[in-house]
Amino acid sequence: MNTRSLVSISDLSKQEIIHLLDVASKFDHNPNQRLLEGKVVATLFFEPSTRTRLSFETAANRLGARVIGFSDASTSSQAKGETLKDTIMMVSNYADLIVMRHPLEGAARYASEISPVPIINAGDGANQHPTQTMLDLYTIRQTQGKLEDLNITMVGDLKYGRTVHSLLEAMQFFNPTFNFVACKELQMPEQYKQFCRERGLAYTETTDFGPDIINKTDILYMTRVQRERFSDLMEYERVKNVYTLTASMLQGAKPTMRVLHPLPRVTEIAQDVDDTPWAYYFEQARNGLYARQALICRALDIQVP
Ligand code: CP
Repeated sequence: MNTRSLVSISDLSKQEIIHLLDVASKFDHNPNQRLLEGKVVATLFFEPSTRTRLSFETAANRLGARVIGFSDASTSSQAKGETLKDTIMMVSNYADLIVMRHPLEGAARYASEISPVPIINAGDGANQHPTQTMLDLYTIRQTQGKLEDLNITMVGDLKYGRTVHSLLEAMQFFNPTFNFVACKELQMPEQYKQFCRERGLAYTETTDFGPDIINKTDILYMTRVQRERFSDLMEYERVKNVYTLTASMLQGAKPTMRVLHPLPRVTEIAQDVDDTPWAYYFEQARNGLYARQALICRALDIQVP
């Protein structure tokens, strides 16, 4: 694997994570730095995206790189039967870096093993979304002033939610207490609970979402029930609206608590939450630009002044 690739958040040490957050902070203060003049970044999105693709492309543009790629695989030669291997080999002829989203778990790992240029995983199925995690960590540190010793409540689709899987792994370095709130069909997979137990990370698990949990929480991480991950759409219909956060549910929350969501949202955060001081998901999405600028520079071995 190209050592500059980022496939899983576990590819990064604690020191690398902290360093990347510090670099992201530099871009937060000055996002327009032409550090990538002459570079080409490819964005290959085999699955839909708004934030991840556009923030990566904005990041590359603000750094002076050129961007190629596709946002709809049906317009690529995959539609004619081209394999992922051949697509990656072709694009690596043209670009210095490939940012890739794919519905299959492990697709980014596979791409990183065959690609001569670095691969950044922009989400592979229900597995990992490491660049989302970097912006989540940036946002958590920005809002709480620290990453250590926080009470983090994850709500919704904890089974298929790649953002919560990546965030859980990254938080291993910072002594979190997790609360997992999900209906029984969408509970946190055993492998991640085992990950917590092996590292002595505290967690609770419940189907109840109310003041008992919300009022002790520092970061309330809401997630969407992802229709695209269900093979049985009847099951999706049964569970899609189980949890909806409303403004009235936040009245006893800590003043410093913040509601995060990787977005897009559907019904899990009511619109009236947007106007409360706890809502922070739009700012969180903005931080994706800075975090991804830092990650592109890491992938291309560019020093940020
Ligand atoms: N958070 C996230 O991955 O959003 P998109 O699917 O819009 O990229």
